[in-house]
Amino acid sequence: METVSQLLESISDVGRDTARGGYSRPVYSTAELDLRGWFVEQAGRRGLEVETDRNGIIWAWWGAPQKGALVTGSHLDSVPGGGAFDGPLGVASALAAVDVLRQRGVQPNRSLAITVFPEEEGSRFGVACLGSRLLTGAIGPDKARNLRDADGNTFAEVSQGNGLDPEHFGRDEEALARIGDFVELHVEQGRGLGEEGPAIAVGSSILGHGRWKLTVSGQGNHAGTTLMQDRADPMVAAAQIIIAVQKSAAAQPDARATVGRLEPIPGGTNVIASRVQLWLDVRYPEDAVTGALVEAIHGKAQKIAAFEGCSVTLTEESYSGTVHFDAALQRQLENALPGAPVLATGAGHDAGVLAGYVPSGMIFVRNPTGISHSPEEHVEDDDADAGAGALADVLEGLL
Ligand code: GLV
Ligand code: MN
Ligand code: MN
Repeated sequence: METVSQLLESISDVGRDTARGGYSRPVYSTAELDLRGWFVEQAGRRGLEVETDRNGIIWAWWGAPQKGALVTGSHLDSVPGGGAFDGPLGVASALAAVDVLRQRGVQPNRSLAITVFPEEEGSRFGVACLGSRLLTGAIGPDKARNLRDADGNTFAEVSQGNGLDPEHFGRDEEALARIGDFVELHVEQGRGLGEEGPAIAVGSSILGHGRWKLTVSGQGNHAGTTLMQDRADPMVAAAQIIIAVQKSAAAQPDARATVGRLEPIPGGTNVIASRVQLWLDVRYPEDAVTGALVEAIHGKAQKIAAFEGCSVTLTEESYSGTVHFDAALQRQLENALPGAPVLATGAGHDAGVLAGYVPSGMIFVRNPTGISHSPEEHVEDDDADAGAGALADVLEGLL
């Protein structure tokens, strides 16, 4: 029987990013496919029956696939230069929890499945939780099929190259009916759990969050021959827009707004860009306030762009309102984990998407650095084992 840290150690070389640090494991990259292969192998070793559904979600079954099963799992894709735990901790803990349950001699009253969701981070095709959104119908199959990665490949093409039929993407009633309850274990992504005290928390809610693309258009030109007063430089507008994003969010208590990705086109040192794309991530508990904040940012961006002789467009890429996890399931998690604090999170999860359709809940494991989406994300071995034990306790109570 392997511990969670031994399981994670066995994939510690997969998708290491020597340039950015940490791991880059975009969905359906060699690294993520290697991790999927690793999961299938680990599930097989445990005698779990593995299937990949029509939306690319892997299911590993302890017991026959059935309606109303207990389901746990997470994701194996990462952000660029991410940590080792965001996603894989939940998958490895689910495998370890099955071992613990069997060692305890638990005889399940219903089947248990471990799931691996594709493109949770949205780091390749732009829409976070794409697998669970497709499963539930929260995104339409046409929109999903046409999403493109940075190289211009569509999600349909890439999925097809990995053995899926994109024509079969979309809400999957049968698969959804199989989820009686969903529990996702995840590394805690802030400083919600102190260094002393419990290493495990029960999730209560996920902050509403969305992504928008801003395209600033100007006049591409020569860096040497174009006088400063003759320029329509979208990079100069983009720089001011980023500051406006920061100021707008800082003026709204509890709001978070980030520009973490920016692409000048064509992107040459001696070239004034013709266009700049920047991606905006905004999070706030109330949809109406988020909407107003994004509109205010858009308004400021238009003024800035006009002043620089440029124009700007804003398009929504994805949105998830604030989620409160199922109250009855949360109570069951709290009862199974006495002394565990209850924590809200500002990070998105497949459990958040699923919560709109099936009872869902989360368990968080201490991250002593309080840093995530970064190589500095960390979980101590003992805490990881405590997490798998906690997941086993929760699953045992629900089986
Ligand atoms: C995913 O981790 C997100 O919160 O964006
Ligand atoms: Mn995650
Ligand atoms: Mn993440």
